[in-house]
Amino acid sequence: MAFVTDDNLTDLAVKRWGTAHSPRLAELMTALVRHLHAYAREVGLTEEEWAAAVEWLSATGRISDDKRQEFILASDVLGLSTLVVQLNHRFSAGATPATVLGPFHIDGSPTAAFGADLSDGIAGTPLFVTGRVLGLDGTPLPDVVLDVWQADADGTYEAQLPEIDEARLRAKYRTRADGSYCVRTIAPRGYAIPMDGPVGDLVSGTDISYFRPAHIHFLIEHPGYEKLITHLFRQGSEFLDTDVVFGTKDELIVRFTEEPAGASPGGGTVDEPYLRAEFDFVLQPRPADEPQP
Ligand code: BEZ
Ligand code: FE
Repeated sequence: MAFVTDDNLTDLAVKRWGTAHSPRLAELMTALVRHLHAYAREVGLTEEEWAAAVEWLSATGRISDDKRQEFILASDVLGLSTLVVQLNHRFSAGATPATVLGPFHIDGSPTAAFGADLSDGIAGTPLFVTGRVLGLDGTPLPDVVLDVWQADADGTYEAQLPEIDEARLRAKYRTRADGSYCVRTIAPRGYAIPMDGPVGDLVSGTDISYFRPAHIHFLIEHPGYEKLITHLFRQGSEFLDTDVVFGTKDELIVRFTEEPAGASPGGGTVDEPYLRAEFDFVLQPRPADEPQP
């Protein structure tokens, strides 16, 4: 082996990591080593900065558990999560674009009937989200499950409330025979990402806005179609163009119209004025040779 010099160190490390038994791991690790070395050389990384970075990563690990994933939040604010979504979900024009899952999705939400209220008495302006789930050719898709979750009017998710042991502001709806769905909920508000950890410390030292615009999350799965993880954003809400996790896409911004009390989009009546958002989700067909996950 050659002994280390300034000039050969990167090549030596790349060669060593190129011995990974899996070809993909070798590709991932050699590229990582090249980019890390180039970064350190470019910025002239000092030992103090290196130690501070190690401490920051350690703190990020310490604060993470099965409810809080600070590394994912770090990836989100760096734009990496959205980049990975973009690289892996290049849908056709016309299909509804995917966005980040975020840290607050909880598996196993209860099922809700067409038009059922998922807000279950939580204070807020009533909102109906209605539309259809379609294939790329416009075919309505019946029996599609829409897993919906959102924050309350204070911007808090169920996952952030340890004392809650029942589903809160989340439910699974199913499309009817004509592909239609109807979600009743409360109007979401924009909110701050968790700022009490290492990510917040880092963001606080910048001019970055740490808010997300008002949105509702959807996870839509149907056999033969790509899984769609996306959001709907309220048109005109604050922070649309500064979303701290780079999640906002033009195609996903929806107008919330003001409607008077009266007939409900879900059947029956609504006894107070409400908001209505209409959106058709268009699913990307899965290639015939791609196995179902
Ligand atoms: C969310 O929208 O739930 C979210 C996404 C990324 C980071 C923090 C929150
Ligand atoms: Fe969210």
